[in-house]
Amino acid sequence: MDFNLTEEHLMIQQAAKDFANTELLGGVIERDEHSKFPTDQVKMMADLGFLGMMVDPKYGGSGLDSISYVLAITEIAKIDASAAVIMSVNNSLVCAGLEKYCNEEQKMKYLVPLAKGDVIGAFCLSEPEAGSDATSQKTTAIDKGDHYLLNGTKNWITNGSSASTYIVIAQTDVEKGHKGINAFIVEKGWAGFDIGPKEKKMGIRGSDTHSLMFSDVKVPKENRIGEDGFGFAFAMAVLNGGRIGIASQALGIATGAYDLALKYSQERKAFGKEIFKHQAIAFKLADMATQIMAAKLLVLKAASEKDEGKDISQSGAMAKLYASQVAMDTTIEAVQIHGGNGYVSEYHVERMMRDAKITQIYEGTSEIQRIVISRTLVS
Ligand code: CAA
Repeated sequence: MDFNLTEEHLMIQQAAKDFANTELLGGVIERDEHSKFPTDQVKMMADLGFLGMMVDPKYGGSGLDSISYVLAITEIAKIDASAAVIMSVNNSLVCAGLEKYCNEEQKMKYLVPLAKGDVIGAFCLSEPEAGSDATSQKTTAIDKGDHYLLNGTKNWITNGSSASTYIVIAQTDVEKGHKGINAFIVEKGWAGFDIGPKEKKMGIRGSDTHSLMFSDVKVPKENRIGEDGFGFAFAMAVLNGGRIGIASQALGIATGAYDLALKYSQERKAFGKEIFKHQAIAFKLADMATQIMAAKLLVLKAASEKDEGKDISQSGAMAKLYASQVAMDTTIEAVQIHGGNGYVSEYHVERMMRDAKITQIYEGTSEIQRIVISRTLVS
């Protein structure tokens, strides 16, 4: 692994930083307060090529590597974790899966508009009774010859109402267990496809999270991804990459909170000196900086292994497990360093603390990451 970023990496990092500071920062508190989706800002991210960063330009993407991707997400999450997850889901869970596993026809029809950011996508695996236990899918897709009939409910779907294209995982043959699961591309507006009310969440309130209901939805056969029974392997492969995106989001949240706490500690005075000059505060910041550096190295290692085409199930899970813990710990300490000001919205850190929590839950809880990691430790 090369620790030096290229000129191109630095340029992308700077572009994401500039965008976050000029376009996201201004309205982030209001969007959080009113659970408002950043519609205009998502369009700007599309114009910057941030919604299909790793997709080949022939399919409408930016053709960049995973290092560029994690740098961009981190910069965006420093300011607005909601915008970061919208971006992460579209890039990692939707575009990456379509590019790697879909046929040419499916790519031209669905991947191109998603990678350009003309539309955004959602990944629908979780169900009311199948979150961590993802093989227990209750949503069914029954083979009817030229189409499948899709029935069931999906839960906690990021981009739930803002998406136009949905990747839906469903059981096609219960007898075969996880080998009887398939993934389908479903379009918004198809008969029998309904979107439930927006979830009221602790954090990442700028992103829209919904349940989705499918009642006798006719899915054309050509919308199945890969060979029959490939759906679970597809979901696992996609999530391995997705976890690097969420690890970067967590790293960004931690770094954003640390930056604010460091600045505040040099401005705020107590007992006759800046609070940074009190060892109790300086030591907190030393720990935060160290943990953030360790998280960053894990994220970059996972991204560089992805670029090298290696198996990233271990490195992606380690990056997510550790970076999400750092996001939680760092944001709690950032609130503590801000004292009373940390508890009010205008100082940002209380939102960051609420936003951090989800990084330990979605795309595999921390407990699931430990399962994934432990299974890679023995052959
Ligand atoms: N990478 C590749 N393959 C994997 C894998 C991984 N990380 N984990 C499991 N598999 C494969 C196994 O090798 C096995 O394949 P074979 O039968 O061909 O050998 C198959 O998947 C089944 O695996 P297990 O027997 O281990 O199944 P299990 O039921 O014991 O456990 C699990 C599987 C790892 C716990 C899995 O269910 C899992 O990852 N759960 C978490 C799901 C998740 O991350 N959900 C997040 C929802 S998406 C989301 O949050 C999106 C959003 O909007 C932000």
